[in-house]
Amino acid sequence: MTAPLLSAVGVTKRYAGIVALQNVSLEVGPAEFAAVIGPNGAGKSTLFDCLTGVQRPDRGHVHFDGRPVDGLRPAARARAGMARTFQRIELFGGMSVLDHLLVADRARTRRGGLLTDVFTGSRPSSDELDRCSAVLELLGLQEWAERPAESLTLGRGRLVELARALMCEPKLLFLDEPSSGLDRHETDEMGDALLRVQSERGLAILLIEHDVPLVQRLAERMYVLDYGELIAAGPTDEVLADQKVRVAYLGAST
Ligand SMILES: Nc1ncnc2c1ncn2[C@@H]1O[C@H](COP(=O)(O)OP(=O)(O)O)[C@@H](O)[C@H]1O
Ligand SMILES: [Mg+2]
Repeated sequence: MTAPLLSAVGVTKRYAGIVALQNVSLEVGPAEFAAVIGPNGAGKSTLFDCLTGVQRPDRGHVHFDGRPVDGLRPAARARAGMARTFQRIELFGGMSVLDHLLVADRARTRRGGLLTDVFTGSRPSSDELDRCSAVLELLGLQEWAERPAESLTLGRGRLVELARALMCEPKLLFLDEPSSGLDRHETDEMGDALLRVQSERGLAILLIEHDVPLVQRLAERMYVLDYGELIAAGPTDEVLADQKVRVAYLGAST
C-alpha cells in the first residue's frame, strides 16, 4: 500500500470542558476522495481546524506528505500543500472573481504585497493570468471573471472559493460543507466540479458534507463523527450500510 498523504493519529481537542474531538485518527491517500460526515456539533470543522493548523490539538499528531506538521502554522501547512475552504462563505467585498484568484496565486508565489498589490493595480503577469484562466475554465467561471464576487449566486460563490483554494496548487483540498445553502441543481454542479478537479489535477480531497447522496457519489472512503468520536470508517458503501451509522446519523430507527 502506498504511504498516506495525510495521517492523523489520536487527535483530541477540548474547548472549556467540551470534548470537541476524542482520539480521532484518519488517513487520506494521494489522489483519494474521502469524506467526513456527522451531525451538527460532531466536531467536523474542529477536525479541519486541527488538521490545517488553525487550532492546536490537546493531544495527537498530524503527518502530511511524509513529515510531521504539528508545529506548523496554517500558512506553512498551506505551502506544504494543504488548502481549505470554510463552512461560512468567505469572499471579499469589492473584489472581482479574478482578483480573488490573483491574491491567492501571489500568496503562493509570495510575489508582492498581496491585497495592496491587487488594489494598487500592479499588473498581473501573463503567467499569473494563465494560471487563473486555467482554474476559471476548469470550474466554468470564465464569463464571471470580472464580476464582483459578491454579486454572484451562492453556488458560483462557492465555486470561486474552490477556485481560490486551487490557486494554492494543493496536494490535498479540505472542503467544509461546500454544498451548504445550495439547491439540488447547484449541489449537483458542485459535485461535477469536484470530480473534474480531482481527475484533472490529480489531487486528494477531504470533504465535510451533510448531503449523503453527494458523498455517495463522490467519496471512496468515509469517516463518521458523532459527539467528537469516530464511530465508523471505511469504504463509503460499507459505512453507509452500517447500522450504527444509520441510527446516529441517518435517523434510522432499526
Ligand atoms: N472555537 C471554539 N470555541 C469553543 N467551542 C467550540 C469552538 N469551535 C467549536 N466548538 C464546539 O465544539 C463542538 C464541535 O463543533 P464543530 O467542530 O463546529 O462541529 P461540526 O462542524 O461537526 O458542526 C461544538 O460543541 C462546538 O460548540
Ligand atoms: Mg462545521
